[in-house]
Amino acid sequence: MAATPTREDRFSFGLWTIGYNGTDPFGGPTRPPLDVVEAVNKLSEIGAYGLTFHDDDLFAFGSTDAERQNQIDRLKGALDSTGLIVPMITTNLFSAPVFKDGGFTSNDRDVRRFALRKVLRNLDLAAELGAKTFVMWGGREGAEYDSAKDIQQALHRYREAVNLLGDYVTDKGYDIKFAIEPKPNEPRGDILLPTLGHALAFIDSLERPELVGINPEVGHEQMAGLNYAAGIAQALYHGKLFHIDLNGQRGIKYDQDLVFGHGDLQNAFALVDLLEHGGPAGGPAYTGPRHFDYKPSRTDGIDGVWASAAANMRMYLLLKERAEAFRADPEVQAALEASKVPELSVPTLNDGETYDDLLADRSAFEDFDPEPYFGGKSFAFVHLQQLAVEHLMGARG
Ligand code: GCO
Ligand code: MN
Ligand code: MN
Repeated sequence: MAATPTREDRFSFGLWTIGYNGTDPFGGPTRPPLDVVEAVNKLSEIGAYGLTFHDDDLFAFGSTDAERQNQIDRLKGALDSTGLIVPMITTNLFSAPVFKDGGFTSNDRDVRRFALRKVLRNLDLAAELGAKTFVMWGGREGAEYDSAKDIQQALHRYREAVNLLGDYVTDKGYDIKFAIEPKPNEPRGDILLPTLGHALAFIDSLERPELVGINPEVGHEQMAGLNYAAGIAQALYHGKLFHIDLNGQRGIKYDQDLVFGHGDLQNAFALVDLLEHGGPAGGPAYTGPRHFDYKPSRTDGIDGVWASAAANMRMYLLLKERAEAFRADPEVQAALEASKVPELSVPTLNDGETYDDLLADRSAFEDFDPEPYFGGKSFAFVHLQQLAVEHLMGARG
């Protein structure tokens, strides 16, 4: 089986993912802390190519300059010795008490100014480490009570912040783009920019929209009951899939951050098929890092951390294999044809056709016969889906 990860697969992991110590709202750690050097060495060993992190994952909030630098140097040493890279960096604007009402959109102006300074400092680090993407997950940007937050003003402040960051990277000449990560709720009762659609609309309001895309997470869209693969297709349509957070979620409940594919497996199959074969020429539609933002189960020990990290990559590669077999199967190709899936690529109007031409076309209306669609003409989507599921199950080829 070819499901062995290599660096060409571009798999990356957050330091906070493999470093998750098991703390949840009802109990403390079930595992010891993970050192960054150990994290880099292990990731390299199991076939990942990148490590991502929040500033506070590497050096605790409130570290002295010397402590901060020491951790950066230790990380750099580990990157040098393994060849791992840091494709993405992000800033923690949600853990420290000062951010309890958010960072960019806290009602407290002093907190907003502090948040901006924290992010600017981390942008310098991102540039220093060669990270190309800067993720912004505003977990605390939101509220529990409608009277507590003026949402329109919060969006103005969010916009003000992102505009400033855009000015900064532009003036500094940094080769960095931003990716907003939507989430509907948790830790706030309601979070700003709750879905990828909200984020896309917000990006349109920015001064430098070309610098900003999205980093959608599987579980976050699914927490809102949305179809993740369909959302990713729309992000691609807008040219805004700057980064991706892969994991698993089982329905509308708390953010589970399960291993990729351990939630809605059929949607994960559709997603990998889209990412790998959904490009304009039939090639990959997304070539960036395949980033896993999952949590090793609290019930697992240290071995389970690395077993689950490997499971994420294996799931992706297995789904990629299945998707390839699905695309190559002549019966699938015939089923796609029968379902008229390729016909959707044919424009509805002829080249240069106007509404006058359409109005003059009797075959489009006067002579068009809708009758055969009653009980007759079938799109046979179920047969197509059955073939997809059989491929997914390894029941064909
Ligand atoms: C979550 C989020 C976070 C963010 C990460 C980046 O599970 O709620 O995914 O993990 O991705 O903190 O800022
Ligand atoms: Mn999550
Ligand atoms: Mn995430």
